[in-house]
Amino acid sequence: MKFFTYTSAFLALCSRLVVHGAHSQTTSASAAQISAGYHVIYSYSGTTPPDQLTELIKKGAIGGILLFGENVSPSLPSQVTQWQSVYRSSSAYAGSPLLIMTDQEGGQVRRLPGGPSLSEKEIGASANPVQAATSAGQQAASALRTYANNVNLAPVGGVYRQSGNFLDQYGRSYSNQSSITSECISAFIKSQQSNGDVLATAKHFPGLGSAKAGQDTDAKPVTINTSLDELRSIDEKPFQSAIQADVDLIMPSWALYPALDAKFPSGLSRKWVTDELRDRLGFEGVIITDAIEAGGLNAFGANDSHRSILAIQAGQDSILVGARNVEQGWQIVQDLAIASINGSINAQEWSQSTQRILSLRSKITI
Ligand SMILES: *[C@@H]1O[C@H](CO)[C@@H](O)[C@H](O)[C@H]1NC(C)=O
Ligand SMILES: *[C@@H]1O[C@H](CO)[C@@H](O)[C@H](O)[C@H]1NC(C)=O
Ligand SMILES: *[C@@H]1O[C@H](CO)[C@@H](O)[C@H](O)[C@H]1NC(C)=O
Ligand SMILES: *[C@@H]1O[C@H](CO)[C@@H](O)[C@H](O)[C@H]1NC(C)=O
Repeated sequence: MKFFTYTSAFLALCSRLVVHGAHSQTTSASAAQISAGYHVIYSYSGTTPPDQLTELIKKGAIGGILLFGENVSPSLPSQVTQWQSVYRSSSAYAGSPLLIMTDQEGGQVRRLPGGPSLSEKEIGASANPVQAATSAGQQAASALRTYANNVNLAPVGGVYRQSGNFLDQYGRSYSNQSSITSECISAFIKSQQSNGDVLATAKHFPGLGSAKAGQDTDAKPVTINTSLDELRSIDEKPFQSAIQADVDLIMPSWALYPALDAKFPSGLSRKWVTDELRDRLGFEGVIITDAIEAGGLNAFGANDSHRSILAIQAGQDSILVGARNVEQGWQIVQDLAIASINGSINAQEWSQSTQRILSLRSKITI
């Protein structure tokens, strides 16, 4: 008897926990969380997306999903279509889809099956680089569309300095000449954006071309000592071409460039993001971070919400949350929502930033 009493009490407790859990998952998001959600791109691990992701889409506390090779399975396209349909019935839905993105650069850096088969380096070295980059843009658009993705986190705008350096070792730089990199990045962007309605992202502003082999901002802090003159006359040129080609997004790098800001890496730097990229170069599109948990930001602590607030304060619009853990994205949304209410984030800039994201999304037809 005692056993049964215990069991039923235990079951009652379990069902309370389950009800409570289910309740907290379906509770609607606050208005501030919905606003913050537009700014946060989530990721998850493996081929079976967690239910929590669908719950957050229902609540509207999410702006998009970053996909990795490990997420790819034959059912991924229909999964994405299903998420978009769940999102359309959420209270956050403002007439445009979630951003679904991946790194489909070409060569060795391709998360989805399909092209571009040539690396940036092979394109830059080919007989007709502009034609090859145009074809690569078409191939990227086609691969992304097959998987219902609407944003490519490519192309790379770095102008490499030494063979075998950080970008060159994987063939990720079109050329060691700024003019060729500029032509190629521009051709890729125009081709991908017009042939597939897939938005392009020029990265990593102001360029990782002089990062040496092993200077990987994903792993650790990286300092690039190039002078401001050289950064502007060589490294920034491809980004200016990208802006002229109407690139939709730009991703700042996580490297520190003391020539303009000795304290904050480009992506956390008001001087780089707002003064240089927005004001000096006149970029009006969406600025998206590189992965927020990157080791490159270790000097700023391990708290991803803190890092995200710094990125927004610098002038970035979207936060890429790449540790493949849905809870990581949800925590950031909740903390950005608080920061947007308590004055840590400038209210006027925040609402302009949200508008930029929504207007970017309104261009998407997939
Ligand atoms: C650029 O790369 C080419 C091909 O590897 C090489 O021949 C040339 O010397 C390099 N130019 C500069 C300025 O480093
Ligand atoms: C960059 O310059 C700083 C200060 O001059 C120096 O301490 C550092 O070693 C340099 N870093 C690289 C990668 O050259
Ligand atoms: C992380 O940073 C956010 C934003 O500054 C802060 O609200 C939160 O308390 C921090 N979390 C931890 C665990 O320190
Ligand atoms: C506002 O909220 C953010 C995020 O939780 C926190 O880091 C910050 O300390 C808060 N600021 C104030 C003034 O309460």
